[in-house]
Amino acid sequence: MLDPALATPWQFLGNWFRGNELTPFESAHGMGFWEYGDQNQEFNSHFNEAMTSDSGMMNLVIEDCKPIFEGLSSLVDVGGGTGKVARILCEAFPHLKCTVLELPQVVANLADTENLKFIGGDMFQAIPPADAILLKLTLHALSDEECLKVLKKCREAIPGNGQGKVIIIDIVIDDTKDEHEITEAKLFFDLLMMVVVTGRERSEKDWKKLFLEAGFSNYKLTPIFGLRSLIEVYP
Ligand SMILES: C[S@@+](CC[C@H](N)C(=O)[O-])C[C@H]1O[C@@H](n2cnc3c(N)ncnc32)[C@H](O)[C@@H]1O
Repeated sequence: MLDPALATPWQFLGNWFRGNELTPFESAHGMGFWEYGDQNQEFNSHFNEAMTSDSGMMNLVIEDCKPIFEGLSSLVDVGGGTGKVARILCEAFPHLKCTVLELPQVVANLADTENLKFIGGDMFQAIPPADAILLKLTLHALSDEECLKVLKKCREAIPGNGQGKVIIIDIVIDDTKDEHEITEAKLFFDLLMMVVVTGRERSEKDWKKLFLEAGFSNYKLTPIFGLRSLIEVYP
């Protein structure tokens, strides 16, 4: 959070507001966040390590929400970072075949294991087929238009026979139920997503609108812990 690459764009809100760049990050650095990571290996490593550390929380998700993953034979973690979540899932469900779809610079040096495969690719182009697609903190970094594109690809990637689902672990703003400090933290992330990428945080109503527009018919939202919720989305 305190890396100058992340702190500097906050000084560029005015330039961004008056200019044509997509994000304050781009106003500050002349390129988007993911391209910057591709060109700055040290920053790329720090960011991926931070996300990997965050993903240790998946152990707690499995403790609380095991049935959500039971019965799945295959899962693709889209924007799955260095594969921490996928590794935890593979350990908890040894029959599950996991694939991590990530930007090539993130997975270039990561080795496949028997039930974990890394694919360097672009989620806007293609998502491999699987029983379930997982997106942890991937959609909050995207605009509504980008989310719709990815969700439509996810819809195509899962079986349409009622067996497939998309599992989203992300922030859901709910200022009627959350403590004030939790809402403040979620709104800080909303600003952060605006400053560094093209994303935003969403209320349940915002998420529902995206799911229906992307062609899904139903969803189930389970608040988990801290700032996250888990949303199962069905075709
Ligand atoms: C906020 S991080 C979340 C990482 C991981 N899911 C986690 O929670 O630890 C978003 C991830 O999306 C990946 N990403 C960004 N654009 C992508 C694209 N076009 N295709 C595939 N992955 C992408 C980034 O490299 C990054 O690892």
